[in-house]
Amino acid sequence: MLKVPHRPDYTIDQNWPAYTAAEHAVWQTLYRRQSKLLPGRAANEFLDGFNALPLGEEAIPDVERLNAKLQALTGWRVVCVPGLVPDAIFFEHLANRRFPAGQFIRKPDRLDYIEEPDVFHDIFGHVPMLAHPVFADYMQAFGEGGLRAMKFGMLTQLGRLYWATVEFGLIRSEAGLRIYGSGIVSSKDETRFALESESPNRIHFNLERAMRTDYRIDDFQQTYMVIDGFAELFEATRQDFAPIYERIRGEPDVAPGELLPGDRVHHRGTQAYALAKAAKRAS
Ligand code: CO
Repeated sequence: MLKVPHRPDYTIDQNWPAYTAAEHAVWQTLYRRQSKLLPGRAANEFLDGFNALPLGEEAIPDVERLNAKLQALTGWRVVCVPGLVPDAIFFEHLANRRFPAGQFIRKPDRLDYIEEPDVFHDIFGHVPMLAHPVFADYMQAFGEGGLRAMKFGMLTQLGRLYWATVEFGLIRSEAGLRIYGSGIVSSKDETRFALESESPNRIHFNLERAMRTDYRIDDFQQTYMVIDGFAELFEATRQDFAPIYERIRGEPDVAPGELLPGDRVHHRGTQAYALAKAAKRAS
């Protein structure tokens, strides 16, 4: 999986001077596209972090410069990795307030589809939230929880929690629903879909529900989970997961678009998008 030589913790140097003009141009294209879409759609907490950090449109950020600011704000820093890293390594980094970011950038002919998280997804999508003190603590707690989940054999369930919050989470604000999940804020089409489409369900965040729910890795989500604030997220993860794991071990998984009787529904999705896709696959 990893072709590049790396240290035992999978980190590599960013080697910023080696990025080509073509690679910086990909960053510029993605940056311009997303920064136009985010005002009025991204959570204020995300935009605050974004504006507080040296994330410019002209070039792929220099991680050293970025870290000087990020570390001063929340004690987090970004480390570069050549691609996806093993779970234990990933959680170990998070538990120590290090965020592993892909060092490479996607190719210009594949702007909207990436197989592994690249520097745009990881830095543009994830790092602004790490400047928020409560979210920063949540991510560290998540890393610690990940190391424990491995011992319980509950990595799938914890991965689903990550997906429902860190990658695809929505948050309520006084001005309406906003996005904060990195998988959404770094995607042009899902930014609109997650907030504006009638198709997906939007239900209130529930930790056990999130851990039981399957998700889409190949397409837009069929269900998004909504929080009222980041304190709600952090509080939910402060409890001991062991009894929760015990409980959900005996419960069936929930399909991506399914609604359950106990759900707090913000929007009942038509699932028109997912149904049309399924019909196309079947024909
Ligand atoms: Co991500």
